[in-house]
Amino acid sequence: MISRSAAILVGSVALAAGLAAASVAIAETAHRTPRTNFILRCVGCHGMDGAGSEKGGIPDFRNYVGAFSRDDAGRTYVMHVPGVVNANLTNAEIADVMNYVMKTFGGTSLPDDYHPFERGEVDQLRAVPVKDIVGLRRDLAASLAKQGIATAGYPWP
Ligand code: HEC
Repeated sequence: MISRSAAILVGSVALAAGLAAASVAIAETAHRTPRTNFILRCVGCHGMDGAGSEKGGIPDFRNYVGAFSRDDAGRTYVMHVPGVVNANLTNAEIADVMNYVMKTFGGTSLPDDYHPFERGEVDQLRAVPVKDIVGLRRDLAASLAKQGIATAGYPWP
């Protein structure tokens, strides 16, 4: 009898430990989905629909944001916007959340041959020193406009 109840006890402890491990794994996986990171780290400013707020100086992603995926300058820029710099995400998570933003909201601005961000590229781009983010954004918008590519309204001086 004693050994039987000991066996039951051991079994239920193992079961509880297993359940705890499983729920931790589920919680961690859920936090790592790009959509969850977007909701947790970006929606407060950019909105669930990516519309931002012109008054608040938050650019509209919809049919615009994909323009910045086209070349190194644009790809460097999006890695240095304040919301990304301060996101407290790993570079792999940043790559995923940026791909989520580009694919969800890029619409007509997303190139057909869209090249997804990967961790290694994010490592490199984040190491590039960018001092004047507003100036960089303005130069980019001007050079994209010359190629006939529009970017969102941007009120920052
Ligand atoms: C505290 C508000 C805030 C949060 C949170 C935030 N952003 Fe932003 N985001 C801004 C502002 C303001 C700009 C434009 C400012 C600039 O270029 O310096 C911007 C610009 C951008 C741009 C470039 C759009 C353009 O047209 O120039 C991208 C891409 C972007 N954010 C992605 C993200 C992602 C991804 C997250 C979440 C990880 C995030 N942002 C979180 C405020 C925020």
